[in-house]
Amino acid sequence: MKIGIIGLGFVGLSFASVLASKGYSVIGVDVDKEKLKKIKNGVVPFYEPKLQSMLKKSLKNCLKVSTNISDLEKCSLIFVTVGTPQKKNGEIDLTMIKNVTNKIGKLLSKTRYKPVIIIKSTIIPRTTQRVILPILQRLSGKKIGKDFGLVTNPEFLRETMAVHDTLYPHVIVLGGDNNSFMKKVRKFYYNLHHNVPIVLTNYGTAEIIKYANNSFLATKISFINQIANICEEIPDVNVDDVSRTIGLDPRIGNLFLDAGPGYGGSCLPKDVKAIIDFSTKLGVNPTLLAAVEKTNKQQINSIIELIKQNIGKIHGEKIAVLGIAFKPETDDIRDSVSIELVNMLVKLGGKISIHDPKAIENARKIFRDKVKYLNSVSAAVKDCNCAVIMTAWNEYKKINNESIKHMTTKFIIDSRRIISNKNLNAKYFAIGLGQKL
Ligand code: UGA
Repeated sequence: MKIGIIGLGFVGLSFASVLASKGYSVIGVDVDKEKLKKIKNGVVPFYEPKLQSMLKKSLKNCLKVSTNISDLEKCSLIFVTVGTPQKKNGEIDLTMIKNVTNKIGKLLSKTRYKPVIIIKSTIIPRTTQRVILPILQRLSGKKIGKDFGLVTNPEFLRETMAVHDTLYPHVIVLGGDNNSFMKKVRKFYYNLHHNVPIVLTNYGTAEIIKYANNSFLATKISFINQIANICEEIPDVNVDDVSRTIGLDPRIGNLFLDAGPGYGGSCLPKDVKAIIDFSTKLGVNPTLLAAVEKTNKQQINSIIELIKQNIGKIHGEKIAVLGIAFKPETDDIRDSVSIELVNMLVKLGGKISIHDPKAIENARKIFRDKVKYLNSVSAAVKDCNCAVIMTAWNEYKKINNESIKHMTTKFIIDSRRIISNKNLNAKYFAIGLGQKL
């Protein structure tokens, strides 16, 4: 079976590599020629653990890449995995998915093959029926269910775990009409993951499942962050003990209860904003989700306030920010809360040094000469009056008195509580920990 995958980002490239490594004949399509060149040479164009070796294996097998969607003519399944970013007002930006759909529509008009088009990109409810389907039918002159199939198949993989989650998904969601095309997709997934539940539903439900999933995760994080803020005001109280314990209640579950500086990344913030925008347009006031977002923003404001309270002012002060990636084991800084923190500190006149084991090159593209870039923790915190740990990189767990000995004022804010057991010779504040009695 030939498979086409359009859009070779985290989702598309992981899926393409895993399928090809299992022996499927896969053609990956992307408009970015530089990216394709790297992929052809076995180089993953971003940092994602385990993907490099999977890509190499898949290139030895049957993975081909192309810039041209027409090369997918003989594919029975065509997966769309392009990004759906957000506009300034939070609304979903469908430009990329519309471009791709136009090209698929033209391809369908010329071919005698009857592929299934499978949308993995995150799309707001009704996009498949109101945007994608009309384009496909208009440009191809063909009919859904007869000449081609169309299925919505949201993806739940996490960056840094992309290969694992592609190999072992917890669920497969398929939205669309239950016809022979759907049966084909269902069989494909059944063969790939025998024991994984497959949920068959309609388009709109499949679409909103993805938003419900991500916005629930965001809700868990904002919830525990609010509890963390309360814990901070009670001497000796520890939010991790709270999360660990409430997580033992099966109705709550122990994952996504790590308090921190707020959720970031290319998905959670964007999806919460998009569902808020969509809900408002429907006339449903999204009170809870708006509070989730507000609570998330509050985390960075609290860090700024804490710095002000402890070092007096920010203007002219040297402050180190440790960790720019939105989570460890990635160089991705999209919508990272660290970016927001650094921007706010720079705006307030702080002299900022930053460090990150993997994301410095990406950070340089954003901050340019507004901050200093250091390649070790001790160099980053040297002469600083405050250091803020933002990302839970393993390297930061090793911070000790030696690493901070050249700080001017030893004041550390640990937003992830990763050095809380170190008893450093420093004034130490951690999100979610009450001050020691
Ligand atoms: C998220 C979802 O977890 C995936 O299931 C989904 O497929 C993906 O979005 C997507 O829609 O494409 P990802 O963006 O890779 O995945 O990142 P997460 O691991 O969810 O982390 C998001 C943010 O939440 C990070 O900033 C992380 O530090 C923060 N977080 C996470 C916490 O602060 N506490 C937690 O307990 C968990």
